[in-house]
Amino acid sequence: MSAAVGCGASSSLSRGGGRADEGGEIAYVSYGGEQHLPLVMSLVDAELSEPYSIFTYRYFVYLWPQLTFLAFDAKDGKCVGTVVCKMGEHRGAFRGYIAMLVVLKPYRGRGIATELVTRSIRVMMESGCEEVTLEAEVTNKGALALYGRLGFIRAKRLYRYYLNGVDAFRLKLLFPRPDPGLPPMMTGSERDDQQMDSPYL
Ligand SMILES: CC(C)(COP(=O)(O)OP(=O)(O)OC[C@H]1O[C@@H](n2cnc3c(N)ncnc32)[C@H](O)[C@@H]1OP(=O)(O)O)[C@@H](O)C(=O)NCCC(=O)NCCS
Repeated sequence: MSAAVGCGASSSLSRGGGRADEGGEIAYVSYGGEQHLPLVMSLVDAELSEPYSIFTYRYFVYLWPQLTFLAFDAKDGKCVGTVVCKMGEHRGAFRGYIAMLVVLKPYRGRGIATELVTRSIRVMMESGCEEVTLEAEVTNKGALALYGRLGFIRAKRLYRYYLNGVDAFRLKLLFPRPDPGLPPMMTGSERDDQQMDSPYL
């Protein structure tokens, strides 16, 4: 039986506890090549419950390197978080998908996951995606709160989705479409003003 891709979190979900220097700077970079692969793999292997093979990682980072981001502690260069995604046609829609998201425990609660996810979603929007989805364990309060804050809704419950027998929620974020109700003579900047309430623009 193969593992379900999509954010099965390990049972330990503590937040903060022994946080790293709160004020320390975090540097965000998009996937830059083979030197980043072991960093992504060790973070995900340590924190997510689903076991992924190197072929799964390669599938994502080779085909959509622009949708994988890494967060580094600028002080010592340690990799402290990552997000791995893909995008493509799905049932007639062009859709983004968040496969993996992890932040090291001492660095949680500082907005790092939010920044990683927001960066990926921006690239998806710029690439023409209409929506983005992911799965999260129904017991993963932290991830559900994070994605809820970002505007994701619970679209479906998937029974025993993970190898550990836990159900998943499929979460979905629909991107705002150009409003056909806007007056045709509206200028570009007027139109932009009306859409500025999206955190991804
Ligand atoms: C889930 C996870 C990625 C969050 O990372 P993070 O950097 O701490 O998240 P952020 O700081 O960006 O959190 C943003 C918001 O999400 C919510 N949130 C995040 N973690 C939370 C938790 N454990 N409990 C409650 N709310 C939480 C909060 O609303 C938070 O905003 P606030 O700090 O202003 O209250 C991290 O806990 C983790 O790596 N967990 C293990 C792996 C995992 O579960 N991945 C997701 C699989 S779908």
